[in-house]
Amino acid sequence: MKGLVVFYSRSGNTRKIAQEISTALKFDLEEILDTKSRKGILGFLSAGNDAMQKRLTLLKEVKHDPSLYELIVIGTPIWAGNISAPIRTYLNIHKKNFPQVAFFYSGLSSDNSKVFKEMEEICGKKPLSLLEVTSREIKRNIYYEKMKKFIDDLSKEMKKVNGN
Ligand SMILES: Cc1cc2nc3c(=O)[nH]c(=O)nc-3n(C[C@H](O)[C@H](O)[C@H](O)COP(=O)(O)O)c2cc1C
Repeated sequence: MKGLVVFYSRSGNTRKIAQEISTALKFDLEEILDTKSRKGILGFLSAGNDAMQKRLTLLKEVKHDPSLYELIVIGTPIWAGNISAPIRTYLNIHKKNFPQVAFFYSGLSSDNSKVFKEMEEICGKKPLSLLEVTSREIKRNIYYEKMKKFIDDLSKEMKKVNGN
């Protein structure tokens, strides 16, 4: 099964998790880039505001066509209790082209499961597995157990599809 890990990251946490998942599963990696600057205090405020209002943004062109893959793993940081604007935009643009999906997020707390619900609603697909990682866990490198479970879930699915 060919898979793609798609993520957006403002400050590196979601990128770190995305890179590790893509390495473990040998999946391609797609970093979503926003044309709107999210740097500094103004970027922080616009990020929170856009996410809260569920606004879309203008993305830079993506490198990979999701319809050519069998599984898309999508990761977002939590912004104001919501999906980040770049990932909301990506989901809206590509939702018709997703085969199977799995989701992960990084946030200050692990109390953001409503974000998974909304990602599922937008995609119209039940995720194969879910992973939530906090910035504290990332800083202390104490998320391996749950990341391993997520990776194992997806490996099992791949084996089913590939018939071995
Ligand atoms: C504008 C903004 C709003 C945020 N709001 C929340 C929030 O409501 N809940 C939460 O758990 N984390 C929140 N965070 C924290 C980030 O989700 C967390 O630091 C995440 O790991 C950042 O990922 P990144 O480094 O990939 O950008 C917020 C961060 C930003 C920039």
